Amino acid sequence: MSRFPRSPRRATPRRYLMCSPAHFKVTYSINPWMDPAKPVDVPLAVAQWEDLRDRYRSLGHTVEELTPRPGLPDMVFAANGATVVEGRVLGARFAYREREEEAAAHLEWFRAHGFAEIHEPVHINEGEGDFAVTSSYVLAGRGFRASPLSHGEAQEFFGRPVIGLDLIDPRYYHLDTALAVLDDAADEVMYYPPAFSPGSQAVLRRLFPDAVIAEEADAEALGLNAVSDGLHVLLPQAAVGLFGPLRERGYEPIGMDLGELLKGGGSVKCCTQELRA
Ligand code: ARG
Repeated sequence: MSRFPRSPRRATPRRYLMCSPAHFKVTYSINPWMDPAKPVDVPLAVAQWEDLRDRYRSLGHTVEELTPRPGLPDMVFAANGATVVEGRVLGARFAYREREEEAAAHLEWFRAHGFAEIHEPVHINEGEGDFAVTSSYVLAGRGFRASPLSHGEAQEFFGRPVIGLDLIDPRYYHLDTALAVLDDAADEVMYYPPAFSPGSQAVLRRLFPDAVIAEEADAEALGLNAVSDGLHVLLPQAAVGLFGPLRERGYEPIGMDLGELLKGGGSVKCCTQELRA
């Protein structure tokens, strides 16, 4: 008998924005995962990324593609380019100069695709890197990238309570490397507590007492960098310790190999921006 009542899980169709790693490389280092001395196999990165894209499509989701630009090697991490809630687009403003121009590429895409309500941010935020959306809240990371002031800006624009969470370990520099939303209707998440300050851990325990708690080895495999449609949870395949707890709660974990993109410090979620209608 499972410890958790097996509530019926249901996938809802999603619309995602992705950007091919055709120009991916690691030429600079802005997080501890990036080592410019380590070679990147671009054709392999593209094949792994196409697997992810095709998997979303085979699950019935829509994947839009943003055209990658030479000179913007991190553009593959499309989650960072904006945050979209109820069709309203909060643009990004990157912390590092190397990624600055990605923000405009995203805004251009949204303008060309009929998104009317677009806010160009004043404060630094790296899109869904630091913003995670549940039905009740926008969870917002800070400490390495997003400015704490961007949290107020997001709250004002989306009209949803924004919960600020302090990240303290440089390996988990974005919220989406330490926490994933599993069910955005029932407010279920999984996370790695040591990535957060003690106070933020207490906030997470209070808001999500039934969360899946990740172990170190799974967090280090970037297992929290996951995307869920309410039933299927796509996550790095090396995060084997998460598969059991997810199944126990009625989810269907699907392991993906994005090993080349891990060299940039990103995996499944980083490559996937959700366009919430
Ligand atoms: N190299 C990128 C950076 O450090 C990786 C971004 C990963 N994206 C994410 N959503 N965590 O900015």
